[in-house]
Amino acid sequence: MTVATSARATEAVRRCRLLAACSEAPGVTTRTFLSPPMRDVHAHVTQWMQAAGMAVSIDHAGNIRGVYAGATAGARRFFIGSHLDTVPGAGAFDGVLGVMLGIALVESLDGRRLPFAIEVVGFSEEEGVRFGVPFIGSRALAGTLDRDILERRDAQGRTVADAIRAYGLDPSRIPEAAVDGHAVGYLEFHIEQGPVLESRKLPLGVVSRIAGQTRVTLTFTGTAGHAGTTPMHMRRDALAGAAEWIAAVERTASQVPDLVATVGRIETEPNAANVIAGKCVVSLDVRHWNNSPRARAAGEAVTLARDIAARRGLRLDYEIRLDAPAFAMDTVLTALLERALSDGGVSALRVVSGAGHDAMIVGLRMPAAILFLRSLGGLSHHPDEAVDEGDVAGALAVGVRFLDLLAAEPS
Ligand code: HGY
Ligand code: MN
Ligand code: MN
Repeated sequence: MTVATSARATEAVRRCRLLAACSEAPGVTTRTFLSPPMRDVHAHVTQWMQAAGMAVSIDHAGNIRGVYAGATAGARRFFIGSHLDTVPGAGAFDGVLGVMLGIALVESLDGRRLPFAIEVVGFSEEEGVRFGVPFIGSRALAGTLDRDILERRDAQGRTVADAIRAYGLDPSRIPEAAVDGHAVGYLEFHIEQGPVLESRKLPLGVVSRIAGQTRVTLTFTGTAGHAGTTPMHMRRDALAGAAEWIAAVERTASQVPDLVATVGRIETEPNAANVIAGKCVVSLDVRHWNNSPRARAAGEAVTLARDIAARRGLRLDYEIRLDAPAFAMDTVLTALLERALSDGGVSALRVVSGAGHDAMIVGLRMPAAILFLRSLGGLSHHPDEAVDEGDVAGALAVGVRFLDLLAAEPS
């Protein structure tokens, strides 16, 4: 490990922690699609990208894009990126580290030109927190952003298009963000966000496939009523119905190997201690590396919700917000990544990613690979999310070797 690589890794971690303070609320890291703190993030990232010799732009989906020219004008592009938005109460590294490592990789070239250009992308929205739909940024780059997504509304009633215009961008120009068909490929550095690498005492991992995910919003509707005067047998309690369903979903999912099902969000109306809930909206997130158990589990969960609602005299409505199939990473690019690891004497593990990543969207348009970094404590989507700086330096060294191997590839 060179001193320069270690220093760049330390700087990449410092930058992640600096950006973590760019937040919608003090003391936590919360940064959703094109919210005001994203402007500060774009200002910092622009500075770092320009200092690394990149031409920087913000596309009309809010992605920040730094291009480091190749040896010849019009050279094809290799993309390196991840997302800059976060979940509420996030850590400093989910997504952001992938963008900082992309910039550090370009810095590592020290002005050297490759047969391809490098474009580092900070995607505007991967988590799907503000509008309930993930991957807005990477879908724009892949040219797969459905126009109806622009009409999705956030909790304040503002649409995706409103948010884009409020940021000073033009939703009608989103198609300009799409890549052409000549991209060389895409590499995403990302924390594992789970316990596998740490349990195997490995610093890095290569992702073989990304689990498919189904996200559903369900609404139980009953009758609000007085908590003190309404006898139990006369109630149509939306929250009690949702609670019965939530417990059943957890119980059922626990019996299916490798399946995960999560109810992470619940909103009730009128949400008062002395009022029987008339309405309850819940989220469902179902994932599996194999599409059929995932589809089966999601279908069974909705049927169960219907049955519970019917028995309790409630109405059930539901909307499927995302149905993303499991995604196999590109075998050629992944093999090159494994060669870069073995050239550096780093033993890595092939892992399935339970988390979704922009690579599953970008990978629809170009070969894509993911290098995982160990998550300390297996923790993520949590303020204590952490990485080991030595692992970051290791990932950077693998990235430099990977670019050299790619540059030597005739095709
Ligand atoms: O939810 C996920 O899989 C990721 O954090 N976007
Ligand atoms: Mn995440
Ligand atoms: Mn992520």
